[in-house]
This record gives sequence, C-alpha cells and structure tokens, in this order.
Amino acid sequence: MQLRIGASSIELVPGDISEQQVDAIVNAANGRLSGGGGVDGVIQRKGGPTIMQETDQRYPGGCQTGSAVISRAGNLPAKYVIHAVGPIWSGGNLGEDGLLASAFRSAMELAAEHGCESVAFPAISTGAYRFPLDEAADIALEAVAGFLRKYDQPMLVRFVLQDGPALAAFTNALEQLTE
Ligand code: APR
Repeated sequence: MQLRIGASSIELVPGDISEQQVDAIVNAANGRLSGGGGVDGVIQRKGGPTIMQETDQRYPGGCQTGSAVISRAGNLPAKYVIHAVGPIWSGGNLGEDGLLASAFRSAMELAAEHGCESVAFPAISTGAYRFPLDEAADIALEAVAGFLRKYDQPMLVRFVLQDGPALAAFTNALEQLTE
C-alpha cells in the first residue's frame, strides 16, 4: 500500500528491514547503542562489527530516547543506519507518544540532512519495548507524513513490517491518514 504526499511517498511492505535496498535503514536501538535482539540484533549481525565500532566512537554518550544518530551500514545494502531510540511503553502516561513521534522525526531529519532519497523504518518500540501496535502505527505515520508535508524529502519512506499484525495495524493507520 502506498500514499503520495507531494513528490514523496510512504509505502508499507512485509519483510526484513536489514535487506532493504535503500539509502538508509532505521534501527530500533536502545539509549546505550549497545545492541540487542529484534531489529538491532539482525542489523548488527548482518552489518558486522564496524557499525557498533562507529557508534561507540562517535556517540560515546549514547543517544537519548526520542532522538537518533547515524552511522555507515557495514555489510548491509543500505548506505547508512539511523539508530533511533523509541520509548519503553509504561502505560502511556510518561510521554511515550511524544517520544515515539520525536524518534521518527529525528530519523527523518538525519535522512534528509544526509541527502537520502529513500529510508526504511521498522515499527520502532513495538517489540521488546511493548508499545501498543495500533497506537504506534498512528504515531509513526503521522510523524512521517507531517515531516514530508513540510520538507518533501526523502522521496521514499518505506515501513517494513515483519508480521501480519504489524502490517494490518499500519495499513489501517495509513487508510485513516488518507481520509
Ligand atoms: N525487520 C523488520 N521488523 C522487525 C525485524 C526485522 N528483521 N525484527 C523484528 N521486527 C519488528 C518487531 O516485530 C517489532 O514489531 O520490529 C518491531 C520492533 O521490535 P524491536 O526490534 O524489539 O524494537 P523495540 O521494541 O524498539 O525495542 C528496542 O530491543 O533489540 C533491542 O537494542 C534494542 O534495547 C532495544 C530494544
């Protein structure tokens, strides 16, 4: 499914974020940039050790929740990995919504600043960080669409959803965005 916003578009695809042939893929990282399972695990494993070597060197203090940093992508097909840190879901009263939107916006800013024409996102915070899927999908798509309406870049924003429930939640949220 696809939505055009000006000259740019948002698309939803099933698949594995690490295999995307785009300028930048976004990692669902933690604040210490220390690696983990899920998206982070597959990116670090397939991309190789140079990714974490670079983030250790450039960002020794890690990355705040709701923000993002960028590195090269080692052995992955993408040019860059943007490491975005989403919030851990704690019931919704600790500013989780705003922090998740901010993580998406920060990643979009870095992609645009680095001249990326295409960027691929996973459903940040919806795995180990337990953010409710439907709410996360609404926030992610609103944040990305808002950025594209303002800046019209990157040209392509792809959400790569690993399973049926995630694809369904994002499809529903994208349909609402078009109404
Ligand atoms: N491609 C696309 N999506 C994936 C992939 C993949 N290869 N692997 C997992 N996912 C999906 C999950 O199903 C989930 O919906 O990405 C979403 C995010 O899940 P996580 O990777 O667990 O990310 P998050 O919830 O943000 O938790 C981040 O987990 O791995 C650690 O270091 C990471 O501490 C950080 C935390």
